[in-house]
Amino acid sequence: MIETKKIGKGYDRVSRIYDRTVNVVFGKSIDVFQAKSISSLNRSKHTLILGGGSGRILLQALDANQSAFFTYFEASQNMLDLSRQRVSETEKSRIRFIQSLDESIGNFDTVILPFVLDCYRKESIKSLLEQIINRCEADCEFLVVDFSKSYDAPFLSKRLHSFLIWMLYQFFFNIGATETKTLPNIDAVLSFSGLQKKSEKVLYSGWISASQWRYAETMMAAE
Ligand SMILES: C[S@@+](CC[C@H](N)C(=O)[O-])C[C@H]1O[C@@H](n2cnc3c(N)ncnc32)[C@H](O)[C@@H]1O
Repeated sequence: MIETKKIGKGYDRVSRIYDRTVNVVFGKSIDVFQAKSISSLNRSKHTLILGGGSGRILLQALDANQSAFFTYFEASQNMLDLSRQRVSETEKSRIRFIQSLDESIGNFDTVILPFVLDCYRKESIKSLLEQIINRCEADCEFLVVDFSKSYDAPFLSKRLHSFLIWMLYQFFFNIGATETKTLPNIDAVLSFSGLQKKSEKVLYSGWISASQWRYAETMMAAE
């Protein structure tokens, strides 16, 4: 059973410092990378952003006019409140803020998963993907931005990345914000769940990737 509420409470604890900490460690590189990845998505009718944190990614998607309507699902009440505060009253008319997928209305044609699958063990990722796929249109496009387990980088960079990941997991696991202490193989679970990778952009020699996926059953029917 996926522990969405527990994880959300973990992120409530760090909601005020989360963005600042990310900026200290990564500067603006992730923001720029993510904005580029969003601008390469097709314009959609209804996008689900799941685990968007304090709403930076929502602003990027609105700036890019990526979708006519957005559902913004955040497990952390504090992160959800911060996201709501960031958006203008006019833009709010095309966003539904929710804390459970059961509150969503209609089907999604795009799903954005930014640094959220890394919070979970592979069984939970499978279960979360199942819940999402059940609420998707045929040919739904997925954008997954996250840390990658397998990539090529010089030995020292790889050691440094592994150390940073280890530290991040120690911290987030101890405050209840992750189910696991190790980075899951996200690509493997996405493929297992029937998604097909269409393209990929990478940052830091592939340590972070932004990959676009499609649900394979639909792909096969279309080809
Ligand atoms: C590592 S943070 C990333 C936040 C943001 N995407 C960013 O990159 O700054 C993960 C976020 O996903 C949210 N989250 C975790 N599990 C979730 C779930 N099952 N449904 C919705 N949100 C979830 C957490 O509350 C947290 O805000």
